[in-house]
Amino acid sequence: MSIYAVTTDELTRQFGNIIAVNEVSMKIKHGSIYGFLGPNGSGKSTTIRMLCGILEPTSGNGQVLGLDIARESEAIKSKIGYMSQKFGLYEDLTILENLQFYAGLYNLSKDVRRKRIEEMLEMAGLSARQKQLAGNLSGGWKQRLALGCAIIHKPAMVFLDEPTGGVDPLSRRMFWEIIYRLAATGTTFMVSTHFMDEAEHCDELGFIYEGKMIATGTPGQLKKTIPGKMLEIGTENPMKLLEELRSSQVVFKDAYICGASLRILVDNGQERDFEKFSAQVMSPTLEDVFVYYAKLNSKELTV
Ligand SMILES: Nc1ncnc2c1ncn2[C@@H]1O[C@H](COP(=O)(O)OP(=O)(O)OP(=O)(O)O)[C@@H](O)[C@H]1O
Ligand SMILES: [Mg+2]
Repeated sequence: MSIYAVTTDELTRQFGNIIAVNEVSMKIKHGSIYGFLGPNGSGKSTTIRMLCGILEPTSGNGQVLGLDIARESEAIKSKIGYMSQKFGLYEDLTILENLQFYAGLYNLSKDVRRKRIEEMLEMAGLSARQKQLAGNLSGGWKQRLALGCAIIHKPAMVFLDEPTGGVDPLSRRMFWEIIYRLAATGTTFMVSTHFMDEAEHCDELGFIYEGKMIATGTPGQLKKTIPGKMLEIGTENPMKLLEELRSSQVVFKDAYICGASLRILVDNGQERDFEKFSAQVMSPTLEDVFVYYAKLNSKELTV
């Protein structure tokens, strides 16, 4: 058996003349958590839907759990778990009925079905509320129920498309604890997210931009790929300081506001020019990494 749960080779999907996913090649190791990042409309959901066997590629290949995404899509659907960006719950059914519905889709035997439903209620912390309508649950509970529905058949590979959008920080943390626990028992995850703190905890990351995979690696590896030095200047008025820098003589590659500070990318050695601004040399964050790659690809930045 291959060490990879997912491999793709120049996977491409067009909608009319839009190339939503453009020759994406990727590999996801068994038992790992793969974070899939990219701006809105960059092709994350389209890639995930192709890998789940619910959308046909225009060209290129992909294998999930050793199965071909174009020719063996039905087998893939029965073996994987998929939580769509919209969660896919039936709001007018109860929590229990939602789980029963999904258990029914996977043809689990009666005994297994009962056991798994109980386990999922337990995992989501929903045992006491199973007769409530799913539509009445708040975001965090809905999200955990949706995960329960997606993994009721114990899939080896799970795709989660922005599972934590619109969910409060505490619920996000609880959700990730469940993911870690499952990953530790060998389940492979591909998770799309806009949250950098979540990305930080993935084993491997892929950054997609306008349909193209533009950077991959572990969070640590990616941070090392930024050339030069990252500086930070704390200020009450970052906008004003940014304008000041732009109209001054100091040379820098990029500068952007990040909370109550300015982050500045400079070539090695240029940091000295920033001593007068009390700039500190910082380690790059993942946010810095993605700003860098996005600007590099949109030609706003040159190496
Ligand atoms: N069924 C479709 N028909 C036409 N265009 C589509 C379809 N699905 C997606 N697209 C287009 O493909 C591109 C990629 O969309 P996709 O939904 O994969 O992005 P995304 O990265 O998931 O974005 P978001 O972060 O907003 O969820 C977008 O330009 C989108 O408008
Ligand atoms: Mg999407």
